[in-house]
Amino acid sequence: MIDQASFAVWFSVRRDDRLGGVGQYEQTAVELKPVAEHVVSLAQLQPGERVLDLAIGTGNAAIFAARSGAVPTGLDAAARLIDVARARAASEGLDASFLVGDVQALPFDDHAFEVALSVFGVIFANDANRALGEMIRVLAPGGRALLSVWVPTGPIDAMVGTFGRAIATATGVTPTRFAWHDTEAVRELATRHNAHVSFHDGELRVTASSPEAYLVANEQLHPMSLTGRPLLEQAGSYSQVREQALHILRQGNEDPQAFRVTSPYRVIEVSI
Ligand SMILES: C[S@@+](CC[C@H](N)C(=O)[O-])C[C@H]1O[C@@H](n2cnc3c(N)ncnc32)[C@H](O)[C@@H]1O
Repeated sequence: MIDQASFAVWFSVRRDDRLGGVGQYEQTAVELKPVAEHVVSLAQLQPGERVLDLAIGTGNAAIFAARSGAVPTGLDAAARLIDVARARAASEGLDASFLVGDVQALPFDDHAFEVALSVFGVIFANDANRALGEMIRVLAPGGRALLSVWVPTGPIDAMVGTFGRAIATATGVTPTRFAWHDTEAVRELATRHNAHVSFHDGELRVTASSPEAYLVANEQLHPMSLTGRPLLEQAGSYSQVREQALHILRQGNEDPQAFRVTSPYRVIEVSI
């Protein structure tokens, strides 16, 4: 879930599925909730502000935004997750609208929102320049955008990197990805759109009852695992890669009684 280059390899295997179209992305969405809450708190939303949440998954950030009195619109490529987000918002009686779409071609007028958010979503766009440009285009003058990106370090990043490299070897596909964690690269990208950036660092704690339980849950539910595993099995490397992944999780485990690891992330704040 962390290393963007490796994650991109998973994505590129079956683009049509995107993340969330298969499996149960919901469990990961629960893990990521603290980051959505952090991003929304940094946005300092005012009641009535129009907020766009991009690549919403199950709608974490949009729902936090609606609870704070803002008026969110959420967009994601996976229709199934849009349904989940809609149901979540409806169950709380929140005022929010959701639609299926691509972050690289937003179906909104220029200047339509005061705030744009994305929690580990825009980072998966093939064309980072276009995605950031779209995020900025829809902002009203003086508007702000906040997007979280992974800082590629820590056990989960290492685990995902291991699977990602194995899939790249199995498929021969190694796409290049924009380094969203690289502050200078992000600054340069934002400058192209006449925008300024600042950065806020955070850490996400991920827990489970054991390293094995964490890995098994991901194998059973995570869209990336469900998409990638058959390819590695076909290549005959799954068992070996799985062992390496488990070793990484055990080595990085901070809780000898269970499982706890820390994944650093960064929130990029864009102002225009
Ligand atoms: C790691 S999930 C994050 C979801 C959510 N923001 C959260 O915090 O749980 C990435 C999301 O990006 C979506 N996605 C990937 N590429 C996309 C694209 N080009 N346009 C719209 N959504 C996309 C996936 O469907 C998935 O829901």
